[in-house]
Amino acid sequence: MADKITLSVIKADVGGFVGHSSVHADLLKKAEEKLNEAKNEGLLKDYFVGHVGDDINLIMTHFLGVDNPKIHELAWNTFLECSEAAKRLKLYGAGQDLLSDAFSGNVRGLGPAAAELEFEERTSEPVVIFMADKTEPGAWNLPLFKIFADPFNTAGLVIDPKMHDGFRFEVHDLVENKKVVLATPEEMYDLLVFIGAPGRFVVRSIFSKTTGETAAVSTTQRLNMIAGRYIGKDDPVCIVRCQSGLPALGEVLEPFATPHLVSGWMRGSHCGPLMPVSMKDATPTRFDGPPRVVALGFQVSNGTLVGPQDLFADVAFDKARELANELASYMRRLGPFEPHRLHLDEMEYTTMPSVMKELTGRFEPL
Ligand code: F6R
Ligand code: MG
Ligand code: MG
Repeated sequence: MADKITLSVIKADVGGFVGHSSVHADLLKKAEEKLNEAKNEGLLKDYFVGHVGDDINLIMTHFLGVDNPKIHELAWNTFLECSEAAKRLKLYGAGQDLLSDAFSGNVRGLGPAAAELEFEERTSEPVVIFMADKTEPGAWNLPLFKIFADPFNTAGLVIDPKMHDGFRFEVHDLVENKKVVLATPEEMYDLLVFIGAPGRFVVRSIFSKTTGETAAVSTTQRLNMIAGRYIGKDDPVCIVRCQSGLPALGEVLEPFATPHLVSGWMRGSHCGPLMPVSMKDATPTRFDGPPRVVALGFQVSNGTLVGPQDLFADVAFDKARELANELASYMRRLGPFEPHRLHLDEMEYTTMPSVMKELTGRFEPL
């Protein structure tokens, strides 16, 4: 039996160029050098350095399984060196996602986020890596539901015998730190009760009922909760395997043809459309946004990452971008009012306590 391959995507924002809009070429070069070294030493089978907005995404394949300390240490050291480069250039927020001075075997809780998947390669192994900026992990809830549970999106749920039984969703409660597994289609309504609240409940992974295989996995950390103060949104990543018993590539991309509204955008405190873009257009500048998502397609071949294909570069997503721009303009017109500005509990920045304190004496009973 072939060795199982692990696909690890570990991401962090270690400095923006300019502001929080993009990643400087020197940082990408540094990350490239580090991962190339690790590949030459045999630690990695292959890698690709991706980016979206101000986030660097290390896409790596290896044979060491998920949560491997050597792989996590490699990612951590790579981000450290990138943040040194960022500090030299005085890039904005240099080192912002590296919350600790001491690495202890896993990036969990230290700032960077990881989505990892160990699997036996099928005869052909197409995967899509979604990477978003200026939003939060719950942003994947709606597209993942459509991909794996909505027959109006995914024809295969109805007409492919290998998908007709449905999928299992592992949902994490980020507030109470609990998880639950719910099966579709039979528990679809229960699932929606939770994942319709993406600020708290997020889909961590999805499993095929037919084969038991993991079909998707996403990042679920909440940096602002770890740090106890605002240090940026937890721009998320999601890995989805496609085809032969899993949703087809086109079914996986289809939800993004209708941009949905997500939390994030300016100061992590606004609601706006998630715009699907090519990597070259992943530079959120209008009001620090609107939030962006990039989709990189790879064929994994004996651990080698054949690709990427920049999937949202397709002109078929032009209409989605147009709609996202229209939605963005509409939402902007609401200015400081909800629902453009997020509900008080969801805001990453607020002056409410100080303003309230200042005005306490002027409040009178009704
Ligand atoms: C959102 C984000 C930006 C910043 C904004 C203010 O995730 O990163 O919108 O929140 O540019 O940044 P500071 O407070 O650093 O000036
Ligand atoms: Mg930033
Ligand atoms: Mg970011």
